[in-house]
Amino acid sequence: MTGPEHPYFYLDGCATAPLRESVISCMIRAQQESWGNPSSLHRIGCDAAESLERARLSISNSLGADRSDILFCSGATESAHLALIGLAKTQSPGRLVISSVEHPAVAAAAQQLVACGWTIEEWPVDAFGKIQMEHLDRLLQAPTKIVSLIWGQSEVGTLQPIQVVGEACRSKRIPFHTDATQVLSQGCPNWNELPVDLLTASAHKCGGPRGIGLLLFRQEIAERIQPLFAGGEQENGLRAGTECPVLAQGMAAAFRDIASCQANQIELSGSGIASVRDALLALLCQNDAIRLNGHPTERLPHHLSMLVSDRHGQPMSGRALVRALDREGIAASSGSACSSGRDSDSPILKAMGVDPLWRRSGLRLSLGYWINPATLTEINDRIQNAIDRMNHNLA
Ligand SMILES: Cc1ncc(COP(=O)(O)O)c(C=O)c1O
Repeated sequence: MTGPEHPYFYLDGCATAPLRESVISCMIRAQQESWGNPSSLHRIGCDAAESLERARLSISNSLGADRSDILFCSGATESAHLALIGLAKTQSPGRLVISSVEHPAVAAAAQQLVACGWTIEEWPVDAFGKIQMEHLDRLLQAPTKIVSLIWGQSEVGTLQPIQVVGEACRSKRIPFHTDATQVLSQGCPNWNELPVDLLTASAHKCGGPRGIGLLLFRQEIAERIQPLFAGGEQENGLRAGTECPVLAQGMAAAFRDIASCQANQIELSGSGIASVRDALLALLCQNDAIRLNGHPTERLPHHLSMLVSDRHGQPMSGRALVRALDREGIAASSGSACSSGRDSDSPILKAMGVDPLWRRSGLRLSLGYWINPATLTEINDRIQNAIDRMNHNLA
């Protein structure tokens, strides 16, 4: 079914993005030149260690950070666990505030702290998935000791006011972590200008390889983090396990690409991708069965979250629609990739107050640098075909 005349359109960049060309060539070179163990003392090990540090330096340049602010780990899940559990372990239990729309990586890490005597409070969100600011003062009072807030929500795309919350946390000296996994795929923020103490990111959402992510942290906080595993002194003793310079080089190449697109305002980065996304939304919404979910304007620039109804005005199954879209040659998702394999309720839509019947009708389309704007009409046609076919099956 797919081929040059009938290409397959990948609209699931929030699950994982295709590797960028620059990443592939950089990793091939690194695999040839830096395959050793960075801890070995011979020249092969030294080459690997040097490659790892070059990758760290490159990432620090892309993100306006210092080299020593970057810790490499396996991905965003590990990074968020290290940020929250690693920090909580060095203090007496208190309250950890997270939003009610966190990715499971953060929600599960928070949950583990309950057994250690911590209480978890979820910051309520409004119908757009945005935290309700009237709770700010109360939630930052004692016994709150850590705050963690997802920056760009992966399922519904809503952006959170991390600047305001971060500054409020800073004024109360409360460590603030943000899960920036989806945000960094579209632009490199300047770490030095962010009121954030710990930031989580993952390479594979950015066109880099899977299996590597990072934790950015302020130096003042480093000594307050306890490693999650023992057995090695890598990453300044904070993350045991042999580092992979090849993956680190791949992640560095992805961030270089993103930063240079941002600097040159190339068509498909940042606001460029937002205009492509908006053009697709305008086409899709000609069909009354499709309505946007999440915040209408304060949302990830590459992200569309929708609720879809059938011809009787009833919710259409998001999972069935994703399978129908695949048959039409479109890769999409019915929610976050981590939950799309299950037919369970969406805790994110629940927190936003979406009616239980509609919580299974979510459709997520996420774009990226690989999308050609000239194909939007065909993408829309195929989506309408998939909806028509589903409606036909209902008849
Ligand atoms: C917001 C967010 N946080 C964390 C993760 C987990 O990322 P990783 O696959 O790198 O562990 C994801 C992946 O979907 C995500 O979207």
